[in-house]
Amino acid sequence: MNKIFTVSILGCGSRGREAYGNNFYLLPDKFKIACLCDINPKQIEIAKSAWGVSDENCFLSPEEFLKEKRSDALVIATQDRDHVDMCIRALELGYDVLLEKPITPIKEDLYRLLDAQKKYGGKVVVCHVLRYAPAFVKIKELLDSGVIGKTVCIDWIEQVAYWHIAHSFVRGNWHSEQQTSPMILAKCCHDLDLLQYYAESKCETVFSFGDVVFFNRENQPKGASDRCQTCKYKDECVYSAERLYVAKREFDFDRIEPLPKDKDDARKQGWPFNVVDLSRPITTESIRNAYENSDYGKCVFACDNDVVDYQTVSMKFANGIVANLTMTGFTQFPGRKMTFHGTLGEIEMDEENDYIRVSRYGKGTEMLSVKQLMRDAVKEDFGHGGGDVMLVRDFYNALCGNELETTLERSVESHLMGLAAEESRKTGQACKVHK
Ligand SMILES: NC(=O)c1ccc[n+]([C@@H]2O[C@H](COP(=O)([O-])OP(=O)(O)OC[C@H]3O[C@@H](n4cnc5c(N)ncnc54)[C@H](O)[C@@H]3O)[C@@H](O)[C@H]2O)c1
Repeated sequence: MNKIFTVSILGCGSRGREAYGNNFYLLPDKFKIACLCDINPKQIEIAKSAWGVSDENCFLSPEEFLKEKRSDALVIATQDRDHVDMCIRALELGYDVLLEKPITPIKEDLYRLLDAQKKYGGKVVVCHVLRYAPAFVKIKELLDSGVIGKTVCIDWIEQVAYWHIAHSFVRGNWHSEQQTSPMILAKCCHDLDLLQYYAESKCETVFSFGDVVFFNRENQPKGASDRCQTCKYKDECVYSAERLYVAKREFDFDRIEPLPKDKDDARKQGWPFNVVDLSRPITTESIRNAYENSDYGKCVFACDNDVVDYQTVSMKFANGIVANLTMTGFTQFPGRKMTFHGTLGEIEMDEENDYIRVSRYGKGTEMLSVKQLMRDAVKEDFGHGGGDVMLVRDFYNALCGNELETTLERSVESHLMGLAAEESRKTGQACKVHK
């Protein structure tokens, strides 16, 4: 019989609850949710009633919660700048930890955490979920098979999508570098992690450009209001909160064919609506009320955002591979696109257009479906291309004593790349990743 591990969740928001808690709950032969901690009683209420956790196992104070060890494992899904202190305390208590990315935007804290892990010995699995997503796993298998010979260079685009950048990085949690992280860590630490994984080498040097080019006062239409509910452009501006969250729901990127009614109703209860509005169920009135009374109702040209809306990073790896990453908020659709150029062929992947194309020079091409690879592995359309659920399954293996792909050392490496890229963007100089 399987061992059942008890797991607690610190930070029961979008990631702690939806990405991890719900997936633990669906695996009762492997996990039992023990305790919950969040400073927001509404988040506790939603999580507690979904999984049947008793009141005495729910905590509103992280200090009280972290006084003693309360389960075998702990998920830390609070905001970026709280991760390291909480994780060190958890290791000290003897937990194995599933830690949300980015680990931290502070370099010294990366080393503090590495030292603590060595000292206390617990596992720290950083949620680089794309390493577990079937299509991204397939890319690694293809590269390892030698089908394109030696990889020479990699082109990579992270398409954030116009509505997602407005929701998360202009109005939402990640609009301020000082409060959370620079964009290159907040949005691209998966990309940097995958690039070093696929390159199979440490990155040596980076050079980066990037800025806030659009979401600022200069681009606010004449006569616009600072809040959408009172703005004369409320029905036509594509960033209008009324349009994004209520009227048109631009977030429905699976919109090409209208969803059947039951799926459409379920969609209205999911991300990102459930981040804007903590009412359950979410109604038209509740979500309108939620955006009108929060930062999600601010004009995108009148927010105090300072994280960049586009950024490029050129990277040189120790084994000679060169990569170019572009993060841009100016795309219709979300998802990553990349091409691996090899001596014998090419691999292209386009998440939105649902393909991996493997070309061998002079020998034809083979097409694979990104979505089919995911469905073969996880059956349903889960978050991050199936990566969220696959990570939860692999976290079980880690608790059973197996080594995972995402060791803390490897995850730290991609954060060092991101911090060097940010330094380069700000100084206009190429920067070494390891100094
Ligand atoms: N792996 C991924 O792909 C991915 C995707 C999105 C976000 N993230 C990261 O996940 C983390 C959580 O993001 P989210 O989208 O769930 O945000 P969220 O705001 O929905 O959830 C964070 C939760 O932590 C709670 N919280 C804040 N401070 C706390 C404290 N001191 N003690 C206890 N609870 C506290 C908040 O009340 C909230 O419920 C962030 O670090 C974010 O960068 C990762």
